[in-house]
Amino acid sequence: MVDLAYSDPDLAELYDLLNPWGPGDDFYLGLVMSADAVLDIGCGTGTLLRRAREAGHRGRLCGLDPAGAMLDRARTRSDVEWTLGDLSSAGWTQEFDLIVMTGHAFQVLVRNEEVRTALSAIRSALTNGGRFAFETRNPLVRPWERWTPDRAIEVTDVAGAVVRVEHEVETPVEGDIVRFTETFTHTGWNSPRVSQSTLRFLDVESLSAFLTDAGLVIEDQFGDWNRGPLTGTSPEIITIARRA
Ligand SMILES: C[S@@+](CC[C@H](N)C(=O)[O-])C[C@H]1O[C@@H](n2cnc3c(N)ncnc32)[C@H](O)[C@@H]1O
Repeated sequence: MVDLAYSDPDLAELYDLLNPWGPGDDFYLGLVMSADAVLDIGCGTGTLLRRAREAGHRGRLCGLDPAGAMLDRARTRSDVEWTLGDLSSAGWTQEFDLIVMTGHAFQVLVRNEEVRTALSAIRSALTNGGRFAFETRNPLVRPWERWTPDRAIEVTDVAGAVVRVEHEVETPVEGDIVRFTETFTHTGWNSPRVSQSTLRFLDVESLSAFLTDAGLVIEDQFGDWNRGPLTGTSPEIITIARRA
């Protein structure tokens, strides 16, 4: 089931405001611009592919997301293929030379079976020599410990309304699964909206084992968006993999 944060049209409308373009998007845009056919899994509001088209990408751009409200935002651009759904129903065969999962979308794959199904579909959808690029937050730096209500994010929308988002993690956190709520308040709403989420924080070894089992090999791995080495204190595990 998709989180309320993505399925509620009002919350989907706030997504880009709360998640502005950042260094991760620059990293992926560079990869997209040098690929011919690109699939963005969990494309959300489609910012990356829309930006690629604006920047002159002339090949195939395809965005996949199970949240209709997010895809409705993406559909403002009709020269990109937008597909509602997830990888369990996808049937692409060797069609993309680049597949990306950005904005930590990979972490929504929680159960082993979901990870395996997704990686197997990704491998099938890649051309020979095609690459799968994605990132997952490094569990060694325990980022969820900083997702506390006192670190709420506040932004002002175009109409001047103040939007506030507070995170609260369910404790104790056991294993690599983190459950948390995001409480959205908006000066124009009568009551807050609460979205419940679950994310998986795979460590480097487990991630590597899932990739190998799916017939993928790691070509490059970075710890930050400047392509710095992956260390125990890196914020991200950024992986570029290809078919074995
Ligand atoms: C944090 S957002 C990232 C959106 C976009 N990639 C970005 O960077 O802005 C996560 C997205 O993953 C989507 N999602 C949730 N479950 C998914 C699944 N099983 N397969 C693919 N995408 C999924 C959500 O609907 C949401 O749009």
